[in-house]
Amino acid sequence: MSMDPVRPDRQKRMGPGPRVAMVLAAAGALVAGAALTLPGTASAGTTLGASAAEKGRYFGTAVAANKLSDSVYVGILNREFNSVTAENEMKWDATEPSQNSFNFSNADRIVNHAQSNGMRIRGHALAWHQQQPGWAQSLSGTALRNAMLNHITRVATYYRGKIDSWDVVNEAFADGNTGARRDSNLQRTGNDWIEAAFRAADAADPGAKLCYNDYNTDGQNAKSNAVYAMVQDFKSRGVPIDCVGFQSHFNAQSPVPSDYQANLQRFANLGVEVQITELDIEGSGTAQANNYQRVVQACLAVSRCAGITVWGIRDTDSWRASGTPLLFDGSGNKKPAYTSTLNALNAGGGTPPPTTTPPGNPPTTPPTTPPTTPPTTPPGGAGCSASVSLNSWNGGFVATVRVTAGSSGTNGWTVSLTLPGGAAVTNTWNASASGTTGAVSFRNVAYNGRLTAGQSTEFGFQGTGSATGITPTCTAS
Ligand code: XIL
Repeated sequence: MSMDPVRPDRQKRMGPGPRVAMVLAAAGALVAGAALTLPGTASAGTTLGASAAEKGRYFGTAVAANKLSDSVYVGILNREFNSVTAENEMKWDATEPSQNSFNFSNADRIVNHAQSNGMRIRGHALAWHQQQPGWAQSLSGTALRNAMLNHITRVATYYRGKIDSWDVVNEAFADGNTGARRDSNLQRTGNDWIEAAFRAADAADPGAKLCYNDYNTDGQNAKSNAVYAMVQDFKSRGVPIDCVGFQSHFNAQSPVPSDYQANLQRFANLGVEVQITELDIEGSGTAQANNYQRVVQACLAVSRCAGITVWGIRDTDSWRASGTPLLFDGSGNKKPAYTSTLNALNAGGGTPPPTTTPPGNPPTTPPTTPPTTPPTTPPGGAGCSASVSLNSWNGGFVATVRVTAGSSGTNGWTVSLTLPGGAAVTNTWNASASGTTGAVSFRNVAYNGRLTAGQSTEFGFQGTGSATGITPTCTAS
């Protein structure tokens, strides 16, 4: 029996999508099947974001929270870009500086800015061997695996509904010709750490697109072949992966590969979206402009290439500023590379990525951790109901509990459940716990007790052992 090894796309949220793409969808509905000539398709966009949107794509930049008070920086950001990536603020060291103590303040500044300006958000990065907090660097084995899963669960849950794409795992393959995984503390927790990370992210934010992201994978080589094999394997086994990010940091030693477009296309053919995630190209003048043009043309030629993110705004904002690799000079003036990028976006043909899953290719991947219990009170009743979803691994779990108020609303609530023997609660968020083993209960905290009729809130707890089969009951006060 032969089976198609490539799973269909998983249905994911659309970012604050390109306006023209929505016009496209609406026009498509009106003229059903007729060839479309769209107002604006041939017109020249005057900014990177608007022009990319006309092609059904985004154009983004890395943003540093501490520059959001720089008016030149923010002026360019708001004018030119419709997607942002936090340059450092969502990394493990920034978001969980000590174990189980989370700090989202700088990341939130970027998220708030993006949301109030209609930009989509790329989340970067949940699991990576670099920029780990010291406490994680010193962990190993099961303790590190559990800490990683907890980190992913907490961060992706916190931003649930806000992130277009998450870089779930960053830079997990070695450079050179081995095609091997990179040695790291995460890799030493077991070869399945990458798929465990993707499953945890999927459970925490099923609407976000989940990406694997790496560098030196931009052309066909031993490293990109190894990533390709992993993606193919994940798709065939139903491991939730939606996209591959190509960092695309280029310079004289690492130029734009001649087979850049072909490499993007072969990944796209596996049934994943491709994204150019950290583009910068060292150089200046015409040579640099031509290289940017090639990258844009490659993305536009691959229908599943969803967008391009440059890794900073002005040359002086770059992590490798001496190479002047970006589109604006230190004063914020447009460089030749800006003009060639905009022109390539405006000229580009290619097929825009589908805005929804095409008919005949329905999403079939079920959530990896469906709620294990139905609500304890039928919707419409008084009181409150609770349902739980579990993300389990050998030796531990994270439970996310959704509390929904019945027809009278709540002033407060308590969720009770009985843990199986051997299981114990080790920490709790958005609720206050009584007991750690056997019969335990969770009471609302100050900010989430009051729910109007039908309104929901979530809390979570982590534990050791297995929580399979737990049944929460909710009592309102
Ligand atoms: C870089 C940031 O730009 C720097 O500010 C920081 O000091 C180090 O990290 N690959 C990635 C990015 O995935 O997170 C890196 O960002 C650049 C390389």
